[in-house]
Amino acid sequence: MRMYDIISKKRDKQELTKEEISYFIKNLVSGEIPDYQTSALLMAICINGMSDRETLDLTIEMEHSGDCVDLSSLKNTVDKHSTGGVGDKTSLIIVPIAAACGGTVAKMSGRGLGHTGGTIDKLESIPGFKTELSPDVFMKLSKENGLALVGQSGNMAPADKKLYAIRDVTATVSCMPLIVSSIMSKKLAAGAQNIVLDVTVGSGAFIPDINDARVLAQTMVNVGKGAGRNVAAVLTDMDEPLGYSIGNNLEVIEAVDVLKNKGPEDLTFVALTLASEMVSLFSGKPSEECFEECKKVIQNGKALEKFRQMVIAQGGDVSYIDDTTKFKKADYSCEIKAAQSGYISKINTEAIGVSSVMLGAGREKKSDSIDFSAGIRMVKKLGDKVSPQDTIAVLYTSDESRIKDAKAKFESAISYADSYSGERKLVYGVIR
Ligand code: URA
Repeated sequence: MRMYDIISKKRDKQELTKEEISYFIKNLVSGEIPDYQTSALLMAICINGMSDRETLDLTIEMEHSGDCVDLSSLKNTVDKHSTGGVGDKTSLIIVPIAAACGGTVAKMSGRGLGHTGGTIDKLESIPGFKTELSPDVFMKLSKENGLALVGQSGNMAPADKKLYAIRDVTATVSCMPLIVSSIMSKKLAAGAQNIVLDVTVGSGAFIPDINDARVLAQTMVNVGKGAGRNVAAVLTDMDEPLGYSIGNNLEVIEAVDVLKNKGPEDLTFVALTLASEMVSLFSGKPSEECFEECKKVIQNGKALEKFRQMVIAQGGDVSYIDDTTKFKKADYSCEIKAAQSGYISKINTEAIGVSSVMLGAGREKKSDSIDFSAGIRMVKKLGDKVSPQDTIAVLYTSDESRIKDAKAKFESAISYADSYSGERKLVYGVIR
């Protein structure tokens, strides 16, 4: 077999065989294929696409290109993946809910990427919380407590690491089969039998358009099922930040508020929707029934207790969860006033995420450290009526010099109009 022939076949719009896809991925990982040939094939895939069968074969080959977690000894294993958002702290809420409903969530999560935050960074804002556990401890905690949350292991889906680095510099990131295989190979390698995908839609999402997001969601569900897993995708709104808080310890506080049954309505509803799909997948019960069950474990404190158990088991100081006022507060804050009278008619959510990164809540470079107390607290949201004396948000940082640019970025993200008639939806649909 020759890489040249595989490239020319895809250039000529022909379907690649399982063997050809396997040859490509194996030789990519072993370093046999030069980047220029990989780039040529990626561009041919981008232009000519892949059939569902090719996308599934590519995903499974990428899944097995490195370590795969074996969770087969655990019951009701369930995982969740989000395509990313701003203020998106749902993992912190739904992991303990699913565990309190009888699931096992042995979960690997990522760090912040671009304008979106990451669960691992958020958890590390809890003093002492360890996000690196040995495989034995990870399995033990998952089995005993029904939940453990760690960073991604170093050698999972190495084919994706290589491909993503090349896609990033060859204008081949926004290509459906490549996105699907990238996301799903990592999720499948993480080992859960049941997987819920949160596919975000709107100005803060990786795929802003609802129709494209639906195609992405459906293709990921097909691939997951083709790989023998139970999968559901929920299309959720990211046309404004989820909840009111953006930034690491601010988001932990808001997530804990939801677990204490006093969180914001939008975040609570989206979290309950995602959690109910997780519970439905492993229990086989209808999601409407599971929604009520998930609500109940918030009301009776069982989900909060699961979260506390995870914090204690992973070395975190649980007194911060019991009294979230203990979290470090930023040294500087800046109130943003409405620029005019009217309604907040549009929010560029990605720009809000960038503003929070500029305040220190995320990394501009991989080596940057995070300011856990930095971030943004939204005071007004989409559709709210405002006048110039109203505060619409508060920015927080420990580095005063960051405020000027972050403020300008935030202000550029808000549009005003004389009226607002937008019909808001938090969940656009579920694909099962
Ligand atoms: N997230 C991923 O992990 N991969 C992609 O290709 C896009 C988003």
